[in-house]
Formats: sequence, C-alpha cells, structure tokens
Amino acid sequence: MTILFEPNRQWSGHLAGLLGAGVLPASRIEDVERLLADQPAEPLVVFGPSTDARLAVDFSAQQRLTRPALGVVLLREGLDVETLGQALRAGIRDVVEVRDVAAVRAACMRSIEVSRHLQQGAAPAPAPPAAPAAEAKVVTVFAAKGGCGKSTLATNLAVALADGGRHRVCLVDLDLAFGDVGIMLQLVPERGIADAVSARDRIDANLVRALLTPYGPGLDVLLAPVGPAEAERIDRDLVARVLAALRTMVDYVVIDTPAAFTDGVLAALDVSDLHVLVATPDVPALKNLRIAIDMLDLLGLRRENRLVVLNRSDSRVGLTGADVDRVLRTPIGAHIPSSRDVPISINRGVPIVADKPAHPVSKAIREVAQAQIANRTPHRAGRGLRERLGRGGNR
Ligand SMILES: Nc1ncnc2c1ncn2[C@@H]1O[C@H](COP(=O)(O)OP(=O)(O)O)[C@@H](O)[C@H]1O
Ligand SMILES: [Mg+2]
Repeated sequence: MTILFEPNRQWSGHLAGLLGAGVLPASRIEDVERLLADQPAEPLVVFGPSTDARLAVDFSAQQRLTRPALGVVLLREGLDVETLGQALRAGIRDVVEVRDVAAVRAACMRSIEVSRHLQQGAAPAPAPPAAPAAEAKVVTVFAAKGGCGKSTLATNLAVALADGGRHRVCLVDLDLAFGDVGIMLQLVPERGIADAVSARDRIDANLVRALLTPYGPGLDVLLAPVGPAEAERIDRDLVARVLAALRTMVDYVVIDTPAAFTDGVLAALDVSDLHVLVATPDVPALKNLRIAIDMLDLLGLRRENRLVVLNRSDSRVGLTGADVDRVLRTPIGAHIPSSRDVPISINRGVPIVADKPAHPVSKAIREVAQAQIANRTPHRAGRGLRERLGRGGNR
C-alpha cells in the first residue's frame, strides 16, 4: 500500500486516482507518521507536487535510519538539478515530473519492488553455492535507465578482456526479457540460460558449458531467453548457481543487465567483484545513476567495488561538470566518448573494439578493461547483503 501526502485537495484526488486502489491519503505530516505507525510494513510514501521539497527531504532523511526499507517518491511540477541533488542525497528513491503518468507509476513500482527485496533480504537467505575451485573476476554492468549503453559496454568489455583469445571470458545476458547481446553479436539463439531451468538441481560447469554459444577466440556467450515468458522461470537462486559454475570455468564473467533490480540482477550484484554503473550526461540518466548508487549502498555492496562510467561523455546537453558532480556526489571513473561509429558497428554485428581497435571509443573501453578490471585487486570480503547480514556487517 501507498501513503500519499498531498495538502492540495485537487492534486490529492487526481493522484489517488492515478496511483490506484488502496492509496491512503494524508494532508499533514503527522498523519503520515500515524499511518506508518499503524502499518509498519507500509512500503511507499509519495509526496505530491504541492509539498515543500524541504519537508520531503527531511522526512526521508529521518526515515532512512529508522525504516530503511521504506521508499519515498517526490512528485514535482518541473525538475531542477538542485532539488534532485538534495532529494537523492536524503535517500528519496525518485523525483518525478507529476504530469508524466507513466514515469510516476514506474517510479512507484520500482520503489515497491526495492522495498520488497530489502524486506526479504532481512529473512534468512538460502545457502550460497559451494566455493569454486578457481575464481573468475565477475563484472556486472548496470544502469537504472535503459539506453545508456550497458549492452554496448558489456559486449565490448567482454571482447576487450578476451584479448584475441589470451583470456577466457563469458558474457552473460541477464536482460532476461529483452536481451539483445545475441542480436548485437549476431548469434543464433539455439541455447541459453533458460535451458538451465529444467536442470536447476544439477547445475555445474559441464552443464553450463553446454549452454554457451561461442563468439570468437576466448569469448563465449550465455544468451538470454528468446521471449519474456521464459524469463519468469529464471529466479535469483538459478542465476546464483549458474554464475557460481561459470566462475570456475573462465577468467572473466561479464554480465549485461536490464535497467531494474530484478532477482537476476541482485544475484549478479551479490557475487560481482566490480559493479560498473553506466550513465549518460543528461538529467534523467544521472538521476537514475544516483538512485542506483543509493540502492547499492542500501544493499550493503562495497563502494570500493564500484566504477562509474560516463558514456557519451562529450555529448553537448548543457550540463556542466559541476551539475554532474552535484547530482552524483561520486567520482566518475571513466569517460567514453560518443560516436556514430558505435551504432554502425552494432548494426554490422561486430563490437567496435574488434571492428575499429584504434577508435577513441575502443581505446577508452580497452583502458577500462585493462586498468579497472584486469589490473584490479578485488575486495572479496563482504560482497553482498547476504554476507553482511550473516556476519553482522563489515562495511
Ligand atoms: N558511446 C556511444 N556513442 C554513440 N552511441 C552509443 C554509444 N554507446 C551506446 N550508443 C548507442 O546507444 C544505444 C543504446 O545502447 P545500449 O548499449 O543498447 O544501451 P542499454 O543496454 O543500456 O539499453 C544504441 O543504439 C547504441 O548504439
Ligand atoms: Mg541493453
């Protein structure tokens, strides 16, 4: 259920209709507190557009400590970088333009999904898979927004890490509903992660090897299902088992993801040595990156294992470096330029690092592969929420 704080009657009525049945309206902050006290598991408080942003920011900052699973979403008439920065720093999950109905609904759903995961995370987790014999470095490429270049970066990083066959790499497409790694590499989807569902109790290196599609020297791909229906049968436990098996088989596992904290993404983040967060220099992407960073913090994932990559960093969109800094408050670890050669190489089915090795985009991606992945010493202890809860916290 959702609590809606909105002093203005008209807005309140309008938003109650938009957010659907079961919304509890409140026009005073005391009422919000009372509703939360009555319903401690209440996952979401939405602040309507006539709310003073300061009130929502203070409320969220307070709740962050006492009710970490509670989500707060702020609706505004018009977005500005200043409010965004303040709100996101206070732990507000999202700030959305109130007239963008689809975005409002999506933000609420995403927040509820995250709250649910956080509440479940507090429950005892299933036993982790047995420790592998040899350990690959696992890299998850993530963004809370589509179209930032996750698949482009994951695919090119995998090719760069394989380095013409000098290393063994597996690229995993965890964008289970709409994966496009197969299309980007022009692979025929004959088998993939969906085939692991019927064999979930006997997942090991041999089984997983049979599900891989070879791409080139050193590089194999674990493809996503062809249709969204199959995706639903692939849960967190299955993804964890598959990744544990893959870890024993190769030098690097590179994981492409959808723009949401799905079960598969949570499983991947949990076992990754490096979380590569991608954004483009525009307000929605930066805002979503800030949200992703906050989520990783909430999930107890180590900051040392985080790399922020600004893709298309030279795009002229009117944002200054100071703006980017104000919203992010996290250093940018790598910049990848924008070039129309990127979509051209994708259309040819050959990643740009292989197609045009001397291209500035290829050089930037190879630099990330070398300096930030290959030469990086992983911080392995306390990688995930599960371990943090199990061992009483080690951040
Ligand atoms: N550095 C870049 N320069 C130009 N176009 C890019 C760049 N990175 C990605 N793109 C383009 O942006 C689009 C979205 O990229 P994609 O990797 O599919 O994003 P995501 O996986 O995050 O949804 C693609 O058409 C891709 O060609
Ligand atoms: Mg993608």
